[in-house]
Amino acid sequence: MTDRRTYFLSTPIYYVNDVPHVGHAYTTIAADTLTRARRLQGRDTFFLTGTDEHGQNIERAAREKGVPTQQYCDQIAAVFRRLWDRLDIRYDRFIRTTDDLHVRGVLKLWGRLIEAKCPDGRPAIYTGTYAGWYCPRCEAFKDEDELKQPGNLCAIHERPCEWTEEENFFFRLSAYAGWLREEIVSGRFRIDPDARRNEVLGIIDQGLKDFSVSRARVKWGIPVPQRPDHVLYVWFDALSNYVTALDYAEGGPLYRKYWDSATAERCHLIGKDILRFHCLYWPALLQAAGVPPPNREFVQGWITKDGKKLSKTTGNVIDPQALVDRYGPDPVRYFLLRESTYGQDWDFTDHAFVGRYNSDLANDLGNLVSRALTMVVRYRDGRVPPRGAPLDAPDAKAVLDRYESLDFAGALIEVWATVSKLNQRIVVNAPWEMAKDPKRSADLDALLYGLLESVRLITLLVQPVMPRAAARVFRVLGLPDGDPGPEDLAWGRLEPGSALGAVEPLFPRIEKEKTVPESDTPPPSPPATPSTPSPVPDRIDIADFAKIELRAAVVTAAEKLQGSKKLVKLQVDLGSETRQVVAGIAESYAPESLLGKKVVIVANLKPAKLMGVESNGMVLAASVGDKAVLCTFDGDAPPGSKVK
Ligand code: MSP
Repeated sequence: MTDRRTYFLSTPIYYVNDVPHVGHAYTTIAADTLTRARRLQGRDTFFLTGTDEHGQNIERAAREKGVPTQQYCDQIAAVFRRLWDRLDIRYDRFIRTTDDLHVRGVLKLWGRLIEAKCPDGRPAIYTGTYAGWYCPRCEAFKDEDELKQPGNLCAIHERPCEWTEEENFFFRLSAYAGWLREEIVSGRFRIDPDARRNEVLGIIDQGLKDFSVSRARVKWGIPVPQRPDHVLYVWFDALSNYVTALDYAEGGPLYRKYWDSATAERCHLIGKDILRFHCLYWPALLQAAGVPPPNREFVQGWITKDGKKLSKTTGNVIDPQALVDRYGPDPVRYFLLRESTYGQDWDFTDHAFVGRYNSDLANDLGNLVSRALTMVVRYRDGRVPPRGAPLDAPDAKAVLDRYESLDFAGALIEVWATVSKLNQRIVVNAPWEMAKDPKRSADLDALLYGLLESVRLITLLVQPVMPRAAARVFRVLGLPDGDPGPEDLAWGRLEPGSALGAVEPLFPRIEKEKTVPESDTPPPSPPATPSTPSPVPDRIDIADFAKIELRAAVVTAAEKLQGSKKLVKLQVDLGSETRQVVAGIAESYAPESLLGKKVVIVANLKPAKLMGVESNGMVLAASVGDKAVLCTFDGDAPPGSKVK
């Protein structure tokens, strides 16, 4: 049954003091994917992102560039939007804190707060003097014990904090400690993962301090109506975007539907750096103003590169624009979500990127799609065969549940299990053999229909992560453009008789050595595929070569050899027999990625034992740098075919 509640999802709004980096892209891709997955479940979803444009930092960045502040904000906001377009991010609204709609909403919220009373009856806002350490980059005051010494440095930015004394408006956060605790403990306000929830409870238990909500020393912001020489604190200004974007100012229909309604779910995706603002300040401010607080925060971990913190100063950055230029949007989206465990810190390496691309996208998914489509073109004239019974379809509910809990890697692993099964099924059922036998025509129809339908369902379930590749597959399958919905999850939507479009490779392989250096990979020494660099030996006679029997074979099973980093035990189908072969390719290929692969075997090699396991033949592979790259075929070569 479709859940009728509305679903509001936001990313943080990003500072425009610099161009977007990969951390921003990661959060935004996660939000876009979750939105698409929720729509696939039939949820009415609103996805919000935008830019945070007020405050000292932005003013400083504009000054350094010699551009008027608003013009500078316009330029950087446009860079964010362009990147989101290139990454196929489909937000419903892009809010900017310099938008008039936002400013009006902030002032309305402020008006409510100024009049609000705390649970203990005291005013929620009061004036007081603040003296303390201020980090202009965080736009936040810091406790003495949070600073790094020597130099009173901000622990996040490693820049000196400034000692500041000024008269401010304060928000009485301390009066909301009991309420916040109760909201979290009762589960009305969910914070995931649990470790972050416990962190927030820990902060509450240490005692909450009131915080100032206006600044006398900042000029670039929204003036406080009661004291026009002050501007509203940038975090109050920024957090308000989540409701101002929905037209909180006028209490418009979007606000009523996606925020204010009793059946609205209100969720934020945030990084671990902004936990305190989203899990304490924001719900308490809303509660005071009589606006419903959020229901849920998903807190994501930190991306590092090659084990080190991302930092412009050390040049350790990952430029999302460059990644899209080089690989296109889908592989970038796929890698970021497949490689990480959402919620935890994780490390980005170029090597892992290329590895995942080639094995998961080019080999597993790309091959399955191209084989299924090519066989229908070849054996059924490019027309969808009559409907057949379901076959190895992915468990849509399990996949969508994983997306819903932001277990992106888990969702993709679940889909890829079916991709492997289908690749294996093609090998085992050998449709090319069925095609030779007219009596097996109905079986071939059922198999081909099953493969096409499974490809359609797999595509549907990876569509939240890779919308562009999915649209291409849907087009080839002759399906209409437009957003898929829950009705598409049923088996058998492909119309028998309809024509397939032209088939082109979805993910052409990346030649690793051409793209990134691989200094971090250990040198392989594949015993079954010798790669000893040697001078070109004396030439051999054709008769010598004729002694070597090379044959096409298909991998039907693969497992890593216990106790060995390099060896993998394969069962290969040689047409007339199945052989066991041990190959030294485990560092270049995951066992699952080998299933269904067509390889070249030296079939007349004397059996040998490798780590006590018999190997009856040898798999050919090129030795490229420190990697093994399997020799395979350009077209259909049935198992057992002689290679000459
Ligand atoms: N403007 C504030 C947020 C206001 S929301 C009401 C802000 N902006 S930011 O530009 O610094 O972006 C912060 C967000 O970017 C983090 O919360 C996180 O989602 C993402 N990331 C920034 N660096 C990151 C990594 N290195 N790794 C993963 N994500 C990170 O804070």
